Amino acid sequence: MDSTPLRLGVLISGTGSNLQALIDAIESKKLANVEIVLVVSNKANAYGLQRALTHNLPAIYLPWRERTESEARLAALLRLFHVDLVVLSGWMRILSTAFIEQFPRRIINLHPALIPDDGTGNTYTTRDGTQIPVFRGLHVVKQALDAGIKVTGSTVHYVTPEVDAGPVICRKEVAIQEGDTEETLHERLKLVEHRLIVEAVRKWSDRA
Ligand code: GRF
Repeated sequence: MDSTPLRLGVLISGTGSNLQALIDAIESKKLANVEIVLVVSNKANAYGLQRALTHNLPAIYLPWRERTESEARLAALLRLFHVDLVVLSGWMRILSTAFIEQFPRRIINLHPALIPDDGTGNTYTTRDGTQIPVFRGLHVVKQALDAGIKVTGSTVHYVTPEVDAGPVICRKEVAIQEGDTEETLHERLKLVEHRLIVEAVRKWSDRA
């Protein structure tokens, strides 16, 4: 077995509670042989940057203006820090095909909705056999609420050029409760995500 630690680059745009889940799992050795070598945010005031710095992790604010130039800088940073696996953890910028192709099967994304195994298609069958729409893009938690369905969930998947449509690494269903708002539902989804993101990195490193 290769004992070289897996080097994560975590991309964030906001709170970074999933980044924190990764930090905690690594520090408590629940996630063994993994280190976070770089955290990048496209937002200067992202709280996740503070979380990274509190744990003495390299944290960089990368202003995201013109996409080609920003992606060139991001790719250079990922190489400079010898990142093995890029984790999009609340990263709110769409990455181009050209960028994604530079890191084949080395970029994973956390998405607060359910996506079918191969990532494609517009319907998802929940464990109780109900077909629900696949929500992609922005505000998917609200989309799920507005659809009036009973179950949604979160997914970690490989990033492919089609947005929120890559092969699934792991996924978990979450029941929608009566009276849920976008905020309450997203909070419950995040609790599930904090375990999912750790599981996904573990799975990725086991198969790498
Ligand atoms: C998560 O719900 C993730 O699924 C979505 O953005 C949110 C990020 O939350 N892509 P946090 O910044 O990790 O708290």
